[in-house]
Amino acid sequence: MINLVLFGPPGSGKGTQSEKLIQKYSLAHLSTGDILRNELKQQTPLGKKAKAYMDKGELVPDEEVIAMLLQTLDRQNHANGFIFDGFPRTREQARALRHALTDKDMRIDLMITLDVPKKELIKRLLKRGQLSGRSDDELSVIENRINVYNEQAQPVIDFYDKMHKYASIEGTGTIDEIFARICAVIEAVK
Ligand code: AP5
Repeated sequence: MINLVLFGPPGSGKGTQSEKLIQKYSLAHLSTGDILRNELKQQTPLGKKAKAYMDKGELVPDEEVIAMLLQTLDRQNHANGFIFDGFPRTREQARALRHALTDKDMRIDLMITLDVPKKELIKRLLKRGQLSGRSDDELSVIENRINVYNEQAQPVIDFYDKMHKYASIEGTGTIDEIFARICAVIEAVK
């Protein structure tokens, strides 16, 4: 079993690389962004509440996101492990995840950050906004999402770095080049 956190700013390729990692290592994928967008689509109370934050590029409050993630985790039983995409994003979320996994006799093996310059992030997200129409892929919201990431990232990085579970990967180049870099660090801890 291997449990990974894929971390990085909006547009750094967490979702794209998660899809490839899931296939290669047969992991279950837990993306809080996807779960929240699904709640929004279903018009659940959580989805309606989250919309106000997501539309502005702000984080949905820890209390709601942690409860949602833990419920989803409890419903899943995956022998090969999990990839956490977009969670944790705050130190509180990182602590909550550690507690929940410890209760299940599990742990995070590696937290991988995808490092991508701001200019490239904006380019990728504006392009996706034109193609897929994700409502938060609009310049002012993209810039706020990047600012929010920059404000919150260091405590989360420190949390895993202290446990020697942090790896930073250059997130530019082709999708396959980046995937090869990620696989190299995973193989080193397996
Ligand atoms: P979330 O859905 O997690 O979005 P995000 O972090 O902003 O990340 P993105 O999905 O935009 O980017 P990504 O890194 O996955 O990149 P991707 O592979 O898609 O969160 C959305 C919102 O939900 C948040 O703002 C917040 O409100 C809320 N939320 C979610 N989790 C939360 C939490 N834990 N706590 C509180 N609130 C939370 O790639 C982006 C684009 O680039 C794609 O078009 C892709 O094709 C392209 N691309 C990928 N790789 C490359 C490459 N190498 N070269 C060129 N293009 C590439």
